[in-house]
Amino acid sequence: MATARIVSLKALVHGVSVSRWTPLSRVLRLRSRPLYSAVRDYSAAISPPSKAVVYDQHGSPDVVTRVTELPPVEINDNDVCVRMLAAPINPSDINRIEGVYPVRPPLPAVGGYEGVGEVHAIGSAVKGLSPGDWVIPSPPSSGTWQTYVVKEQSVWQKVDKSTPMEYAATVIVNPLTALRMLEDFIALKSGDTIVQNGATSIVGQCVIQLARLRGIHSINIIRDRIINSILSGQDQMKQKPISSN
Ligand SMILES: NC(=O)c1ccc[n+]([C@@H]2O[C@H](COP(=O)([O-])OP(=O)(O)OC[C@H]3O[C@@H](n4cnc5c(N)ncnc54)[C@H](OP(=O)(O)O)[C@@H]3O)[C@@H](O)[C@H]2O)c1
Repeated sequence: MATARIVSLKALVHGVSVSRWTPLSRVLRLRSRPLYSAVRDYSAAISPPSKAVVYDQHGSPDVVTRVTELPPVEINDNDVCVRMLAAPINPSDINRIEGVYPVRPPLPAVGGYEGVGEVHAIGSAVKGLSPGDWVIPSPPSSGTWQTYVVKEQSVWQKVDKSTPMEYAATVIVNPLTALRMLEDFIALKSGDTIVQNGATSIVGQCVIQLARLRGIHSINIIRDRIINSILSGQDQMKQKPISSN
């Protein structure tokens, strides 16, 4: 499986735990009240606070994003509160923050669209999940760049805890895109050959691996990175993708 850039969320955890990730507007409504009075108002379980990468407007991520603590939110009967363990930074995450991606959450929003987390608490009607289980949002949904996420059980799919964390965190967006590229356009059969550029990308590496599993040869084109090496004085060449032949 391909590797990916991972945002480690562990560093954001400060001894406190839980919050609801979406809808963020609901979080912000709770935020507008004094925290402790909000907690007293609810008889249901309450999430811990959540450290989150939030943006209030679209623009360059280094300008418009900020790390902030979101207040606790209610865990309803069908909700699962998940302590996020890892979430990737995919190109589409950047595009959403920039406001140029066709599908994007309303503002303000928490960044991130996939990841893996550990079940922290469950609502009273939740079946089949227990605290300690690993889950991924599938299909992916926005708001994974925070320490605690509360969403309905239907959002979460349990994953095997023996799965390497970085693989579990990135198993949806890019591998499935690679799969659809291989399967949705023409019928490829064993012995066929495909050609792709951008082959060092995560999608490209997944294409190589999935093609190989099907006996499909791949020719993989990557850009010359020599200039980067000269400029930095370091060898920044990426490892070349494994050929299927
Ligand atoms: N529609 C969908 O559902 C969907 C889903 C997933 C991804 N995508 C898209 O698929 C693409 C790949 O995503 P990813 O996460 O796999 O990307 P990634 O891992 O960040 O890889 C980016 C690729 O672009 C290459 N690249 C960057 N700048 C370049 C330049 N100036 N000239 C030539 N090549 C350049 C990189 O080459 P180096 O290794 O040499 O830097 C690398 O191969 C992105 O455009 C992403 O938005 C679409």
